[in-house]
This record gives sequence, structure tokens and C-alpha cells, in this order.
Amino acid sequence: MPLPKDTTLEFSLTARKSAGLEKSILQFLAAARPGAQGGIVTTEFKTRSRWSCYTRRPAQTRKLVKLFAQNPIRGVTAAVRRLDAGDWRDRWLHYFRPMRFGRDFMILPDWQKKIPSAAKRCRILRLDPAGAFGSGAHETTRLMMRMLDLFKGRARSFLDVGTGSGILAVAAALQGAREVWGVDLDPVSVRAARRNLRLNGIRHGKILCADISRLPVRKKFNLVAANFISADLIAHQEKIAALTAFGGYLAVSGISRRNAPDFLKRFHPAGLRLKKRFPGRSWAGFLYFKG
Ligand SMILES: C[S@@+](CC[C@H](N)C(=O)[O-])C[C@H]1O[C@@H](n2cnc3c(N)ncnc32)[C@H](O)[C@@H]1O
Repeated sequence: MPLPKDTTLEFSLTARKSAGLEKSILQFLAAARPGAQGGIVTTEFKTRSRWSCYTRRPAQTRKLVKLFAQNPIRGVTAAVRRLDAGDWRDRWLHYFRPMRFGRDFMILPDWQKKIPSAAKRCRILRLDPAGAFGSGAHETTRLMMRMLDLFKGRARSFLDVGTGSGILAVAAALQGAREVWGVDLDPVSVRAARRNLRLNGIRHGKILCADISRLPVRKKFNLVAANFISADLIAHQEKIAALTAFGGYLAVSGISRRNAPDFLKRFHPAGLRLKKRFPGRSWAGFLYFKG
């Protein structure tokens, strides 16, 4: 029976980290799905790792299950999961591929070891979204990166509100921000962001698991980025404004273009004024200055 349009199947192999089975698992998946290594996604848990591949063809999943039953790996568990429309965060991992990001970066999935020739002149940003928002493909993130590019090497301190995978925090740190903070209320995102900082060799980043409304405002940042839905940006505008240093900038994204006029009427963070608009295809970003 064909799968509904929004459904994907995940075949995964899970093992304890300490078991050292990564190589055997990747070899199995590469042999079972020739040419599909790019689509193998690693998810790290506290003590275990999971390697997943995705397909919309039930016959292919059945073949993988059968092959694994014939060639089991001791200490490895196989599972099949049906991902429906609501599991969008898992599903888009399947489509994650190397891509340009902003002026300088090429995003490479964590699991891709070979640097593509197209990346030779780029800075590599290693990413494993691991279930968090922020693969670099979404227009709202890309608009944010266009704004960050304006401050390359000039923002001393950077705050990423709703950091998701931590992609913007990583980019800001690689661009030279000396102090980098990220905050997210979702523990999965917090884990992913911390890991992505580590993957890129960033040791001075600080990722907090908190609701932005609870962050103390003693600290101020030269550049604050907030990629939220409009309603949340409006709800948290005073807090976000208070975290922006005098003479600093606030970049907001996540506003649908249709909603932009209404957003601009309702978003008046104290002490900030609109400097520049970044209209995208379906979304818009806005840059504010505090001074
Ligand atoms: C659209 S994602 C942005 C991810 C990433 N910064 C990017 O630009 O791709 C928004 C993130 O904000 C987080 N979030 C939503 N409401 C929040 C709140 N009140 N405080 C902190 N984080 C929040 C969500 O968990 C999600 O990870």
C-alpha cells in the first residue's frame, strides 16, 4: 500500500557508545543502501548513538530489516519508525546535504568526512541538527545569516535567542565573536547546539536551557539574533530589547511576508529603531539599532 504523502520511514540501528560499533554499522548501512551514505543521520543520546536512514518505499525498509536479520551485529538493535507530518524535525534530517550558508560558509553534515570540491574556498561549518530546528536550509535562518554577515568580525558579544541547532551561534563564533551565548527552552535543541559548538572547536560558547522570559538582563550583547514566530517576537520584545547593548543591533527573523506589515505595527522594542529590511521569498527579517 503506498504511504500517505507526508510520511517517511526511518530504519535505524542503535548501539551503546562505548561498544565502538560505528564502523560496522556504517559499513552495513553503506552496503545495504549503496550510494546512500549521505543520507545516514547520526543522533547522539547520553549513552547510545543511533544511525538512521530514510525512505518512502516500504519495500526498501523491509529489505533492510531482512538483511539485518541475516547479518546481525552483536550489541546493535534495529528499529523501523513511521514518521508522519508531525515528525517534521526528523523528516527533514533526511534531506540534509552540504550547502552554502551566508557569504563564507559551507555547511557540511557531521557524518560527511569528504570535503566536496565546491567547499574548497569556503569556511566549513559542521552541523548535526539532531532533531533541532536550524539546518541552514530554512529561509528564516538564511535571512538571519545575511544579517550576521554585516557584522563579520565586529560583534564582540552575540546572543542567539531560540538557538535551535546552534547554527547561528556557531557561525557568529567562527566569524570572530568572542562571547557567544545561545538560549532555548527545548532540551533537544540545547543538546544539539552544545554538540555543534564542540564539532566546530568552539570552546567559549555558552548554551542555556531556559525560556527567554526568564533570562536575567544584567548582561547586554552587541548583537542579538531572534528567529521566532512573530507572535513570540512581539510577546518577548521588551526582554529582547533589554538584552541588546546600547550601540548594539537586534536581528529578527521568522516573520511571514504576509504578516510583516502587522508585525511592524506591533513590534516596537524599547530604545530600538528599524535600520534595514530583509525581504525574502516567503519570510522577512528586520535589523534594529539601539542608540
Ligand atoms: C525557528 S527556531 C530557530 C532556530 C535557529 N536559531 C535558526 O535560526 O535556524 C526557534 C527556536 O526557538 C525556541 N524557542 C521558542 N520559544 C522560546 C522561548 N520562549 N525561549 C527560548 N527559546 C524558545 C524553539 O525551541 C526553537 O528551537
